[in-house]
Amino acid sequence: MNLSLPPFLIETSRLFLRPFVSSDFEGYTAYHALPAVYRYLYCDPPAGDALKQQFSDLLRAQFMQDGDVFTLAVTRREDGAVLGEVLLKLASINARQGEVGYIFNPDFAGSGYATEAVRAIVDLGFAHFGFHRIFARLDAQNAGSSGVVERLGFRREAHLIENDCFNGRWGDEYIYARLFSEWQSQARSSSLQARISVSSAV
Ligand SMILES: CC(C)(COP(=O)(O)OP(=O)(O)OC[C@H]1O[C@@H](n2cnc3c(N)ncnc32)[C@H](O)[C@@H]1OP(=O)(O)O)[C@@H](O)C(=O)NCCC(=O)NCCS
Repeated sequence: MNLSLPPFLIETSRLFLRPFVSSDFEGYTAYHALPAVYRYLYCDPPAGDALKQQFSDLLRAQFMQDGDVFTLAVTRREDGAVLGEVLLKLASINARQGEVGYIFNPDFAGSGYATEAVRAIVDLGFAHFGFHRIFARLDAQNAGSSGVVERLGFRREAHLIENDCFNGRWGDEYIYARLFSEWQSQARSSSLQARISVSSAV
């Protein structure tokens, strides 16, 4: 695998994906403080100092060993609004397994922005980092999240029954995945949507 962080600004048709910077705190807080956003994430939204700590940890995050997470802010090209974030977690360097995640501000839902951004970070995961398999784990009731990965051609591999519990509620989980070979055969037949360009701006 190639674990060097790309000095890239990722452009898609409507979005820029780039590392978070300290001035993004307001845009980050706008969705991380919302209970609705954490409904299917098996934890409460962070508040106060915990939220500040979570954001500053994000700015200093490393991507070197299993468990580390690479996160990009998703901003709208037309006005720079922070729409949300996409991430890749190093599930196993040895087996080249990555977990994709995505969290968006509901103010910007329903326009395909999450799908567009997740497509771009999955492209980066296969083309730059060299993952063999990228998977997503999501609450079985999280229809919006299932919609994102299904639009991108991920296969539903598993339905885990009551494998987690939060606030006294048992939850089921789906696991979706895509292999490098599946991504590559699609990439050959259609040009990648994301254009990854080297930029010194980030
Ligand atoms: C999961 C989450 C990102 C999905 O958000 P979303 O708005 O449904 O996803 P998108 O931005 O890709 O928008 C898709 C919707 O826009 C529509 N759409 C409009 N234009 C579109 C376009 N150009 N391309 C794709 N979809 C488009 C789709 O039809 C879809 O609508 P539908 O839900 O009625 O089927 C969001 O609900 C979220 O952040 N939730 C909280 C955090 C979370 O649960 N994360 C996942 C953890 S696993």
